[in-house]
Amino acid sequence: MEVNFKIYRFDPETDSKPYYRDYTITANPTDRILDCLNRIKWEQDGTLSYRMSCGHGVCGSDAMKINGRCALACQKLVKDYEGKEIILEPLPSYKVLKDLIVDLDPFFEKVKFVQPYLLSTTALPEKERLQSPENSKKLDIAIRCILCACCMGACPVLNENERFLGPAPLVWAFRYIFDSRDTQYLERLKQVDYSHGAWACVNYYECTRACPKEIPITKYINTIKREIQKSKDTNR
Ligand code: FES
Repeated sequence: MEVNFKIYRFDPETDSKPYYRDYTITANPTDRILDCLNRIKWEQDGTLSYRMSCGHGVCGSDAMKINGRCALACQKLVKDYEGKEIILEPLPSYKVLKDLIVDLDPFFEKVKFVQPYLLSTTALPEKERLQSPENSKKLDIAIRCILCACCMGACPVLNENERFLGPAPLVWAFRYIFDSRDTQYLERLKQVDYSHGAWACVNYYECTRACPKEIPITKYINTIKREIQKSKDTNR
């Protein structure tokens, strides 16, 4: 079948403004959008730029806007858009470096802000720090996050307010706030207890809809908010 693509193009070194370019390829309904992009690049236009690595929903590098929704190009199939022109655009909220490639440095800075690693002041155990099966179960969906930033691109709050910490960093905050091996529970809650932190989320649920790993992000952010309130009530 013939599939029509309209792809956002912009090279800041040569273009005064972005434009869209049309491409038509022959593809199977079960081909992934990433397969189509590769074919366009290899067979029609070597100047087209996008990120990819694993091709299997693991590395998170091919997040982009596909027909208005943030998603991984390697997880969407041609048949998901049957009969429609497929429009590919860069993730919103980030500076375009070239075509579908955006500058994700501000995203990773926000992730770093929540200290996405175990912090413990207890003495080093002889072997590893143990986690109970119950606690592990509580976190086993949160740890699916692959830092693709689909949730960040989809978040209407972040689109308006770049100071908002954003959904993915809050997922990582959740992951360590509730990790029984971490001893910085109160400090971690304080870290996200500010107007552009957890409280900036107003429950659009777009992050939850966009997450390719089906993490209930909005629910986790609301859990953090309740935990902040609970810790304040307890220490009153
Ligand atoms: S290419 Fe790695 S997640 Fe899609």
